Amino acid sequence: MNINGKAMRTIWVKPDGFPVEIIDQTTLPHEVTIVALKTSDDAAYAIQAMLVRGAPLIGVTAAYGVALAMREDASDAALDEAITMLAAQRPTAVNLRWALDEMRRVLAQVPVDERARAAFKHAAKLATDDVDMCRRIGVNGLDLIRDIAARKRGKPVNILTHCNAGWLACVDWGTATSPIYHAHNAGIPVHVWVDETRPRNQGASLTAFELAQHGVPHTLICDNAGGHYMQRGDVDLVIVGADRVTRSGDVANKIGTYLKALAAHDTGVPFYVALPSSTIDWAMPEGAGIPIEERSADEVLHMTGRMPNGKIQTIAITAPGTAARNPAFDVTPARLVTGLITERGVCAASHDGLLTLYPEHRAGGYAVA
Ligand code: MRU
Repeated sequence: MNINGKAMRTIWVKPDGFPVEIIDQTTLPHEVTIVALKTSDDAAYAIQAMLVRGAPLIGVTAAYGVALAMREDASDAALDEAITMLAAQRPTAVNLRWALDEMRRVLAQVPVDERARAAFKHAAKLATDDVDMCRRIGVNGLDLIRDIAARKRGKPVNILTHCNAGWLACVDWGTATSPIYHAHNAGIPVHVWVDETRPRNQGASLTAFELAQHGVPHTLICDNAGGHYMQRGDVDLVIVGADRVTRSGDVANKIGTYLKALAAHDTGVPFYVALPSSTIDWAMPEGAGIPIEERSADEVLHMTGRMPNGKIQTIAITAPGTAARNPAFDVTPARLVTGLITERGVCAASHDGLLTLYPEHRAGGYAVA
């Protein structure tokens, strides 16, 4: 997608093969900063400090982190060490583990002196595959929006989303935003309610930014406003992303997603989750088992923004000594999810529903795909 009219992805490799580069998402929307990743430690830091974030992008960055490690030492021990170190950076999004498992599976079969080249090649394939999966999520989700648009006879379809599950959270297109971009590109009038998504404000800083860059009409709302608009009939559809979906269809996503699902259920608003298959944890029976990342309380106690003098500054918003907790994700039970939008189609949020699209997992042996 575009930033200031220039087509960009969230991660790429310089034309001569080194270094890897990313958009630093911590300075958006105020500044577009490009950061070079030269080592696996750089990749780990980018994931931990959320210079990159969003389940699919974390996975692809970790894959490049392995490739950067292999440049320096391609031994079996170094491969193990890099994978263990990168996997430890963020616990909830299963795409991280999925991408690292993929890198291990491929590199274990490659002689040590060819591993660095093979690692960059496979990381690039994971990035390209992610773009294709997200594009197909958009095509499959477009039909849902088209159906609602037909009923609304030319009035905009109002879609609420939480956090940033846009192209900035992936390599391109996004998950939850991909059907929206496809609808907008097809001339269907859409309007997006953007949850600000405290404490890191991914909605305010990232989703609103990327929708504006693509010209999609949207309105930022505070996290507590969504239920109100649903009660008033101002939301036709909720689409969120996911960090991990269990084989029973439970959904871990950014903290606050569960409350939106409850409000949608109460008001009869369809609640869809958009995800690539790299987000499905076939080994996880239900949501209660998903590890929930607890981040620093500082993120709750402070806010960052641009001052009138143009400087980006972080300020305290509480009295000194205020206690705070900061769970980064919550779990929405499958029963509150109307459907899952994947690259293979739309299915019920259930084991049977997922198996209709991914029959290769019917045999059990719940290894990650
Ligand atoms: O903490 P973050 O910003 O990595 O959380 C991201 C989300 O929760 C996204 O909604 C999720 O990864 C969906 S992916 C496109």
